[in-house]
Amino acid sequence: MTPNETDRGTLLLLGGTSDIGGEMAVRLCAGRDVVLAGRRPGELGGVEKRMLEAGAASVRSIEFDAVDLASHRVVVERAAESGPITTAIVAFGILGDQERAEHDETHAAQIAMVDYTAQVSMLTVLADVMSSGHIFAFSSIAGWRARRANYVYGSTKAGLDAFCQGLADRLHGTNLSLITARPGFVIGSMTEGMKPAPLSVTPDIVADAVVAEMGKGSRTVWIPRSLQLLAWVMRCVPRPIWRRMPR
Ligand SMILES: NC(=O)c1ccc[n+]([C@@H]2O[C@H](COP(=O)([O-])OP(=O)(O)OC[C@H]3O[C@@H](n4cnc5c(N)ncnc54)[C@H](OP(=O)(O)O)[C@@H]3O)[C@@H](O)[C@H]2O)c1
Repeated sequence: MTPNETDRGTLLLLGGTSDIGGEMAVRLCAGRDVVLAGRRPGELGGVEKRMLEAGAASVRSIEFDAVDLASHRVVVERAAESGPITTAIVAFGILGDQERAEHDETHAAQIAMVDYTAQVSMLTVLADVMSSGHIFAFSSIAGWRARRANYVYGSTKAGLDAFCQGLADRLHGTNLSLITARPGFVIGSMTEGMKPAPLSVTPDIVADAVVAEMGKGSRTVWIPRSLQLLAWVMRCVPRPIWRRMPR
């Protein structure tokens, strides 16, 4: 089953400038109404053009700041003005600055807000409003086992991953599926300037992997697949060694 056989309604990308989200949307947008939601909708012209070139029927950009939790339902309702949303890509997120977060509680809380609280809020709205199709959420290997070098971001992904496991079970037996991506290091804007970790991938590889899982029900996808094996090995590493692991 191709993605377009399962989802034909409006495609909503939350985090309009996301590298991974953009790659996914370009693969799914042909013939569909696309809504890009971002903090600076006026600066999404390049992404809009890319979607139209990929065959989108229409593209609209709307304002969305994830930390404004009270706006989440309104944002989804505005997106649905193009027609029922059948694909929602929840691609907003920040890596944050771990070192800063260790001393600046406001920054630590900001990471928790964007990468956990706002995700929980938005996923709850989407699961409530959408009646069929796919929701994509982004967990990470960082949430698999907290690492001293990035435990603030990692802890948000652990929480989000647990939330997604429960939400996927709640959606079981419905026409709405939750696909939870667990990528490793993705070379792109979020990791700019950082040395790629083993098994690094690029946003197009993540997009291909998660889009390929559409039409099969809710599931969790490791990207690359071989990361799953490494993840189980990670669980066995003794704490004195583990705490020295780089991010
Ligand atoms: N890159 C990786 O190595 C990696 C690995 C595993 C998981 N992930 C996860 O995958 C998802 C997508 O990552 P990516 O690589 O595509 O990241 P990205 O290219 O850095 O995109 C992040 C997006 O989040 C948006 N954003 C940040 N704060 C926001 C806020 N307060 N309100 C609304 N939008 C906000 C950014 O918008 P602005 O343009 O306004 O900043 C941008 O569109 C994230 O959840 C990330 O944690 C990434």
